[in-house]
Amino acid sequence: MARQLAGRGRRSRPAAAAPPVLAAHGLSAGYGGAPVVRRLDIQVRAGEVVVLLGPNGAGKTTTLLALAGALAPQAGEVHWAGSATAAPLHRRARSGLSLVPEDRSVIMSLTVRENLRVGRCDPALALATFPELAEHLDRRAGLLSGGQQQMVTLARALARRPTALLADELSLGLAPQIVTRLLTAVRAAADEGLAVLLVEQHVRSALTIADHVHVLRHGRLAWSGTAAEAEANRDAVASAYLPLA
Ligand SMILES: Nc1ncnc2c1ncn2[C@@H]1O[C@H](COP(=O)(O)OP(=O)(O)OP(=O)(O)O)[C@@H](O)[C@H]1O
Ligand SMILES: [Mg+2]
Repeated sequence: MARQLAGRGRRSRPAAAAPPVLAAHGLSAGYGGAPVVRRLDIQVRAGEVVVLLGPNGAGKTTTLLALAGALAPQAGEVHWAGSATAAPLHRRARSGLSLVPEDRSVIMSLTVRENLRVGRCDPALALATFPELAEHLDRRAGLLSGGQQQMVTLARALARRPTALLADELSLGLAPQIVTRLLTAVRAAADEGLAVLLVEQHVRSALTIADHVHVLRHGRLAWSGTAAEAEANRDAVASAYLPLA
C-alpha cells in the first residue's frame, strides 16, 4: 500500500503529553484459569493509530476484549477517558468506545440501509466515509462482497462518532485493495481525532497507517515502538512471529 495513500507525514502528530483516551496498566486477562495476556501496558491517544500485531493465539483478541470491557481484567487496570474503569462494554460504548469484533456484524438478510438503521447510524454519515456504498443501500447485505460488508461495519462504527475505535482484524480475508480502502478510512478518522487500536494480520499495510506498534507473543508484549522504529527493526518485529514453542 502506497505510504502517501494514508497521508502519513502530512498530518500533525498528537502531542506526546496528551493523556491517553484508553490505557492498559499492568493488565492481565484470560478465561477463568491462568491469564492469557499478562502485565500489558498499552496507551491509545486521540489522533493516534496503535497497531497490535502477533501470531495466532498470542492474545490479541483477548487484549482488545479486556480493553473494551467485554472481559474483566484478572489483574491491573483499564483507564478510559482518564479514569480507572470496570464498566462493561455496553456502558463504555455509550460513552464513546466502539468495538468492531472479528466476526463481521452485518445482518445478511437486511439491506445495507436497514443495517445502518439497526446500528442507529445516519446513512448520510456512512456514505461520507464510503461513498461507494450509495449504489448498494437497498441491496441485502448478504449479497455484498466481504469487503463491502466490512465497509458497512466500519461505516456504522465511525458514523456514531466514537472517541475510540477498537477493531479486530478488519482486513481478514479481504483483497489488498479493499484492505487499503478500509485502513485509509481508519487513518482519516484518526486524523480527525479518533483514538484507534487495531489488531491486524496485514503487517505491511498496518504499518503504513500506524503511529505506534506493539507485538504480542505468548500473551506478553514482545516488542513496542513507533511505526518508524518498527520499519527500521523489521527483524525484531518479524522474530516475534516465529512459531510459538
Ligand atoms: N473464550 C475462550 N475461552 C477459553 N480460551 C480462549 C477463549 N478465547 C481465546 N482463548 C485462548 O486464549 C489464547 C489467545 O487467544 P486470542 O483469541 O486472544 O488470540 P489471538 O492473538 O487473537 O489469535 P488469532 O490471531 O488466532 O485471532 C488462545 O490460546 C485461545 O485458545
Ligand atoms: Mg484474534
